[in-house]
Amino acid sequence: MLGSLLLGVSRVPLVRRAVSGVPLTRKVVDRFVAGETTRDAVEAVRRLTAAGLTATVDHLGEETKDAAAAAQTAGAYAVLLDALSGLGLGDRAEVSVKLSAVGQALGSDGDKIALENARRICEAARAAGANVTLDMEDHTTVDSTLEILRALREDFPATGVAIQSYLFRSEADCRDLAHEGSRVRLVKGAYAEPASVAHQSRSEVDKAYVRCLRILMAGAGYPMVATHDDRLISITETLADRFGRSRGGYEYQMLYGIRTDKQQALAGAGHTVRVYVPYGDDWYGYFMRRLAERPANIAFFLRALGGK
Ligand code: FDA
Repeated sequence: MLGSLLLGVSRVPLVRRAVSGVPLTRKVVDRFVAGETTRDAVEAVRRLTAAGLTATVDHLGEETKDAAAAAQTAGAYAVLLDALSGLGLGDRAEVSVKLSAVGQALGSDGDKIALENARRICEAARAAGANVTLDMEDHTTVDSTLEILRALREDFPATGVAIQSYLFRSEADCRDLAHEGSRVRLVKGAYAEPASVAHQSRSEVDKAYVRCLRILMAGAGYPMVATHDDRLISITETLADRFGRSRGGYEYQMLYGIRTDKQQALAGAGHTVRVYVPYGDDWYGYFMRRLAERPANIAFFLRALGGK
């Protein structure tokens, strides 16, 4: 409830300006964001991989309304991937891309521009030996994202996608995507969605997550189980046993700065754990979603504002 309210308010331009302008925010943001530059992102990946984890790097930004900025974002990914491959990190680091950051929100040509820019990122990823996963944004973008995924997969078959369990449609999408070679990241979903398209209660979202997870674990693709929820992690282990999936047959994913103890524990037990590493200066939308996920984060933010 508090979370949806915060997500709604966060879209008001005045609130955006106020939060972005608070001097202390940067310190608070650093808890969830690796830094502003390519160098910061590479350094975070170096630290994570040295600790036995893997990474997927997100250049922050979304809902770009300008074609030049969309192309610039694709360029930033190319620079990042080159820097990662220079370190020999290729297969231990992949990238995550929000299609709205590379042009999807640019009106009638949006899908075409996003596909072209995403293709450019996939080419740079191929040269670096890395994969690309498409993030999933609000429900109005799902059809377009899955269409762009299909087009990309013709040339870059390892391209993955995030599916959000809170959407009613997602079980059917998981069925379509549970095929050989398909990489699917299952998440609960982080946007404020209406009751006409999405489960509203935590327990319904969790139950839907288990149904989607079962489809993916029983299927022939590669499930990427993106959650910090202990109960869902233990259900994943039960399903892995039931469907005879070895540790290399699926992976866990968590967000930078969240449940780092659990990330290490799972990696220590022999699992692949991929940490989602956001970097860049356009942190507002990402940061507000992290605040909305957990009321305690809002208290942390308010305490920081009060100087405590
Ligand atoms: P839940 O929210 O129930 O949290 C379980 C526990 O994890 C909490 O009790 C707490 O301990 C901890 N936790 C969770 N969130 C926290 C936070 N913000 N701060 C501190 N602790 C926290 N969403 C989306 O719509 N599209 C996408 O493309 C992606 N991509 C994505 C990639 C990866 C790798 C991850 C891990 C997540 C996403 N998400 C996402 C976000 C996802 O939809 C969801 O909002 C968060 O993962 C939180 O849900 P949990 O499954 O962790 O459960």
